[in-house]
Amino acid sequence: MQTEIIKVTEDSSVTELIAPAAEIIRQGGLVVFPTETVYGLGADATNPLATAKIYEAKGRPSDNPLIIHVSTPEEAEHYAFTNSLYYSLAEAFMPGPLTVILKARESIPLTTRGGLDTVAVRCPESEIARELIRQAGVPIAAPSANLSGSPSPTNASHVIDDMMGRVDAIIDGGDSDFGLESTIVKIDSETTVTLLRPGKITVEDISSIGVDVKLANAVTESMKTDEIALSPGMKYKHYAPSAPLLLVEGTPEQYAEYILTNSDSKNIAVICYDDESDYLSDKIPFADLYMFGKRSDKMAQAHMLFKVLRDTDKRTYSKIYAPLPSKNGIGLALYNRMIRAAAHKIIRL
Ligand code: TXA
Ligand code: MG
Repeated sequence: MQTEIIKVTEDSSVTELIAPAAEIIRQGGLVVFPTETVYGLGADATNPLATAKIYEAKGRPSDNPLIIHVSTPEEAEHYAFTNSLYYSLAEAFMPGPLTVILKARESIPLTTRGGLDTVAVRCPESEIARELIRQAGVPIAAPSANLSGSPSPTNASHVIDDMMGRVDAIIDGGDSDFGLESTIVKIDSETTVTLLRPGKITVEDISSIGVDVKLANAVTESMKTDEIALSPGMKYKHYAPSAPLLLVEGTPEQYAEYILTNSDSKNIAVICYDDESDYLSDKIPFADLYMFGKRSDKMAQAHMLFKVLRDTDKRTYSKIYAPLPSKNGIGLALYNRMIRAAAHKIIRL
């Protein structure tokens, strides 16, 4: 398949550039587009033939449902049953990186929702994404635009690596702002939600508007063999680099010491905070260091994490080490992605 690349620059007119991509969506084709979280692999959410192509292009199991993207929170009415809690969340956080699971209406075919009776709805903040939805005139179903088993793409070169020749068009909108996927909540009652995936909208943010937030077990723990996945995505093997990744909790001194005493090979990658890299390169001169932001700067870490993991995976290391993030605020999103990439191998010093 021929893949057209549409590059959006500072001074280009988004409305004009997006028109051919919107036409591809209407015709049942696939368009990769930027959002403020990660890039999405989009198709007309109301067309089962179109969304079937998404599963094929990604190599994704057909029972792992897709998020539908709308250009205003109110549009969800056509595709799902909303309630007052949905509108409280929408008022506080939409457009933005929050996905809400609601009871689905028939207008969204079973293919799009992986056979479930619920549907995930998200109104992205990205102007390019919302313009694409508006011009297409349909909700756009989109998972992250990576091949199944790779980290979500946060720039066009990641998308090109994974999707060239598999989609009709790629809209290149530069680096994703945030870099980790949206927060996902399931509405349980008029006042309670369950957090299925942490993201930029934090537990603290949601609690601050008077909503009770329960954490799904799988956010911080590995799934038990008899546990039922609240979100189908939880039960699939998540991205992990080909070399074993080990998360280490401790001071920079303990981190260096642990790596020095436990590495039987010098062919290792060490993911580290910018402000600790000089110390670590002194202590472990043979390691390849990958910086991902200052220790105190979780936004920078979120922005860099998937890029750093993709970069380390281009080499064949015998081991990769990374610091274990804290679980508060945006830290919970980093923690959730990193324990999965490390297959829950955590060293606490
Ligand atoms: O930031 C994001 O959310 C990005 C951008 C493109 O919007 N999208 C994204 O989609 O991360 P995806 O498919 O990679 O992750 C969506 C997750 C999956 O784990 C899926 O199982 C879960 O949401 N999900 C989708 N519909 C669901 C539903 N009805 N009930 C429970 N979980 C659902
Ligand atoms: Mg994904």
